[in-house]
Amino acid sequence: MTVAPTLPGAVTVRVPAKVNLELRVGPRRPDGFHALATVYQAVSLHDDVSIARWDDWQVVAAGTYADRIPTDGDNLAVRAARLVAERWDVDERLSIRIDKDIPVAGGMAGGSADAAAALVACDQLWGLGLDRDELAELAASLGSDVPFLLTGGNAMGSGRGEQLAPVLARGTFHWVFAVSDTGLSTPEVYAECDRLRERDGVRVGEPQISAELMAALRSGDPAALGAALHNDLEPAAFSLRPQLRELRDAGVEFGALGGVVSGSGPTVAFLTESHEAALDLSVSLAASALCRDLRRARGPVHGAQVVPVARTAD
Ligand code: C5P
Repeated sequence: MTVAPTLPGAVTVRVPAKVNLELRVGPRRPDGFHALATVYQAVSLHDDVSIARWDDWQVVAAGTYADRIPTDGDNLAVRAARLVAERWDVDERLSIRIDKDIPVAGGMAGGSADAAAALVACDQLWGLGLDRDELAELAASLGSDVPFLLTGGNAMGSGRGEQLAPVLARGTFHWVFAVSDTGLSTPEVYAECDRLRERDGVRVGEPQISAELMAALRSGDPAALGAALHNDLEPAAFSLRPQLRELRDAGVEFGALGGVVSGSGPTVAFLTESHEAALDLSVSLAASALCRDLRRARGPVHGAQVVPVARTAD
């Protein structure tokens, strides 16, 4: 049984994926999270989350990665919707349809994106009129990168990634994402990062974003941005999945301006000069057989937005 987005009264929200242009990981905090300094960019791979009143809670999965998402109460979109219902005392249940085009468990915030979309959709369906701060507070309680998926664009994240500040940036950037069949667990990647640092006697202070990355974004120069991409979780992802290093090196050898593991991986993000260069790189990587699933996208794009009703009939 599916609920089409065109069902009377249904609300559809489109939400992007993210890539971390820079991810600096500080010490583990007493609450178990790590202090972060990161710069997010929202990119044009999207999920569509449609909600409609129903006689029970249900999740209907559709789209490219439909078979990879949980359809029970563990689904972050359901948790988001139930949180709003509880907080605002709404005695209703929803059917939630997720059209999944964001790679799952890949460091592109797919689950977090659906949570952000569900918050915006519930606000609209139930006419709650939540302001930015209320949505951001709910979002942060669901996951560290959920608040960013509400805003999109480019933003700096601090705290555990949930505190956002605007970033001055110009230009559009062209990406190729090399997606793996099997995900990496985010807690395991952070734990491996701690283990490697302890083994190597690395002491870390407060994480800071580099001046190079901020300058590259201000200038809009893709070559400068490619050279400034950085992820402190990359050694941990390489340690857990050694073939990712080979994949990253191959992409750079094939002409990417830079390559970096996205978030906690295993997706590897490659920045290219142009849309055509992204096409060329995809062809080379596909021929190398190092990765079967390659996705192209541009960034930045805006965050979670209600899809006007006329467009849902497309
Ligand atoms: O916040 P989120 O649910 O995305 O975090 C998933 C897991 O990633 C956390 O339980 C934690 O193990 C790890 N994490 C972390 N430090 C952060 C963000 C996430 O250790 N700043």
